[in-house]
Amino acid sequence: MTHNVKTLQEIIDKGRRIVFFGGAGVSTESGIPDFRSADGLYNQKYAYPPEVILSDTFFYSKPEEFFKFYREKMIFPNARPNAAHKKLFELEQAGKLRGIVTQNIDGLHRMAGNRLVYELHGTIYENTCLNCGRKYGLDAIMNSEGVPRCECGGVIKPDVVLYGESLDKYTIMGACREISQADVLIVAGTSLAVQPAASFIDYFGGRELVVINPDATSADERATLVIRGRVGEAMEKIVVR
Ligand code: APR
Repeated sequence: MTHNVKTLQEIIDKGRRIVFFGGAGVSTESGIPDFRSADGLYNQKYAYPPEVILSDTFFYSKPEEFFKFYREKMIFPNARPNAAHKKLFELEQAGKLRGIVTQNIDGLHRMAGNRLVYELHGTIYENTCLNCGRKYGLDAIMNSEGVPRCECGGVIKPDVVLYGESLDKYTIMGACREISQADVLIVAGTSLAVQPAASFIDYFGGRELVVINPDATSADERATLVIRGRVGEAMEKIVVR
């Protein structure tokens, strides 16, 4: 990894419009399991497949079971930004990072201080009453039992994109704009298994495509640098100058 991190350092030093495209693997070093690794969420056994539970039809037909799974498996209030999140904040502060496009809903990039964040699949920190539209924070989900209810009696739904739902079009437009204008795209901690998110990296036309993942991904062959390792470990060694 050392040689590769040296190359990553050179790429970042030269980068003026860096974009970071990330997935659940960026948060595993914060203690949040990913989905498709051997010990990932989707390889654990539940009454229904997690991809079914995390769908819109399941949310509306079995809300009690949805919220039981969601509170137990999708919310990690004690998770904190790791070295990858912290280095990305430094890169944004230095004016080198033009945006983070993340599939994660854990809010850790914003917690690290980054402002230029496109949360393709939403965030656990924003929740909306389906009846009156009133907005709630994470505490409305954490500090309630069963199906969380608004003062008006409506169901409070997390502002996360469930299977079967569309992504926010303005988030897509912003993310794809930044990717298309980037000179460096770092694709880290994602299996690129889910559409349409995975297809957004095809908007990249810049010089350096970097992939950071212990496992192979479909972007490897297009990459100018592949680091077979953990993104926090790699980014920790980077000096922002
Ligand atoms: N550093 C780099 N990569 C890592 C690390 C790490 N520390 N830990 C795990 N990985 C890699 C895994 O090898 C895997 O390739 O991150 C990837 C995580 O892939 P997934 O679990 O499929 O997560 P993700 O790509 O984000 O899934 C996309 O699927 O279910 C939906 O909405 C959910 O946003 C999620 C989407």
